[in-house]
Amino acid sequence: MSRSAHPAGPRHADVLTEGHYTAPAADLNVLDEKVWSRTVTRDADGALTVGGIGVARLAEEFGTPAYFLDESDFRARCRAWSEAFGPDADVFYAGKAFLSRAVVRWLQEEGLHLDVCSGGELTTALDAGMPAERIAFHGNNKTVAEIERAVEAGVGRIVLDSFQEIVRVAHIARSHGVRQRVQIRVTVGVEAHTHEFIATAHEDQKFGIALADGQAAEAVRRALGLDSLELIGIHSHIGSQIFDMAGFEVSARRVVQLLAEVRDEHGVELPEIDLGGGLGIAYTSEDDPREPHEIAKALSDIVTRECESAGLRTPRISVEPGRAIVGPTAFTLYEVGTIKPLEGLRTYVSVDGGMSDNIRTALYDAEYSVALVSRTSDAEPMLVRVVGKHCESGDIVVKDAFLPADLAPGDLIAVPATGAYCRSMASNYNHALRPPVVAVRDGEARVIVRRETEEDLLRLDVG
Ligand code: LLP
Repeated sequence: MSRSAHPAGPRHADVLTEGHYTAPAADLNVLDEKVWSRTVTRDADGALTVGGIGVARLAEEFGTPAYFLDESDFRARCRAWSEAFGPDADVFYAGKAFLSRAVVRWLQEEGLHLDVCSGGELTTALDAGMPAERIAFHGNNKTVAEIERAVEAGVGRIVLDSFQEIVRVAHIARSHGVRQRVQIRVTVGVEAHTHEFIATAHEDQKFGIALADGQAAEAVRRALGLDSLELIGIHSHIGSQIFDMAGFEVSARRVVQLLAEVRDEHGVELPEIDLGGGLGIAYTSEDDPREPHEIAKALSDIVTRECESAGLRTPRISVEPGRAIVGPTAFTLYEVGTIKPLEGLRTYVSVDGGMSDNIRTALYDAEYSVALVSRTSDAEPMLVRVVGKHCESGDIVVKDAFLPADLAPGDLIAVPATGAYCRSMASNYNHALRPPVVAVRDGEARVIVRRETEEDLLRLDVG
């Protein structure tokens, strides 16, 4: 289990006896740079600023709840990933983490590629001008219409996920008179150390074709036998929010073994391997993510070594980080509504959002941090649970954290590291209006995804 996927207990706290926590060791006014985006700091008055703009102004101009995305941090992370992997590798940003037209433009400007997994993501990418050849199209159940659009657009690769899809994509490519570049996604049989719902390389799940029992080798056989497919390589994605590199190393080793088997059987050296995404980020001070250059070195060392021993040319490597690029770049800003102290238990702090803007706590038991950001405070820490405004007791944003005891309605609090899988998994539960995403850079803030309105809700309701 990753630390953030499965909390062991309240953060910043030592458990004395069940249900009693000591005060946090850290000063609550200090913003741990591990979990906040790079330009976040406190100004002279103690209010949080991002990209040089204070939260009071952001809240006034854009309202709450809202996601604020630190654009220069996003761009810096893109550059760090592509520099770490160098010219002999490709970095595909996983759009499922968060995708918008502005993001697509930033990716292009920073030289990244893009992984999409639905017609909607593909449309967004193409609409924002991402060259189709820089796009990889994923998914375990792509529709015929989606495959047709991807082939017509000329995507750089389609990642095949099943035997049926091999035939389907081949057929569509043939009817369009093209030779489609494809990879085959394999499940390497690794138990990734993360939450069950976001682990994807063990055999008993819906993604990929198992290496075990020669299934993947059979998929390669079939793909190589189809003229309308150009099999460029093998793909493996072992899961998400992973800190331990061991799973990636086993995966890389097994993928290279398959390349060697393919060479032995068919006399073909597949030129590429994709090792997926899944690198963990810091949601709390206790998480210690790896830097892109460490990840790049670990992966390329293992691939080079394995290829040397198998007598293979080293294939071009690609990776697909989503969370590791966008996750740390945004925080969600909320206004405190009601505060309910429960004697001997904890204080419930209700905010103006909740599980509709961050489902990850309810879905994966994910851990988050929280801070009072409209001011500093010298008050004693109090144990809180930050909850939303939905009609559901599991509507929890931050399960266990400390905030100053003088917290009051109207204060602004922020949850960092919400750039990935928060807006992209947001819902309209209770007819909540999905919050905007505001990009902040060098003293300027602009909406890149606007807040939903009640009109938007009614527009879909055509009964
Ligand atoms: N590549 C493939 C084929 C994937 O399926 C995924 C994520 C990624 C790359 C990017 O993984 P990342 O680097 O972002 O961890 N909703 C969950 C995560 C599900 C991820 C699904 N696939 C969450 O909120 O943690």
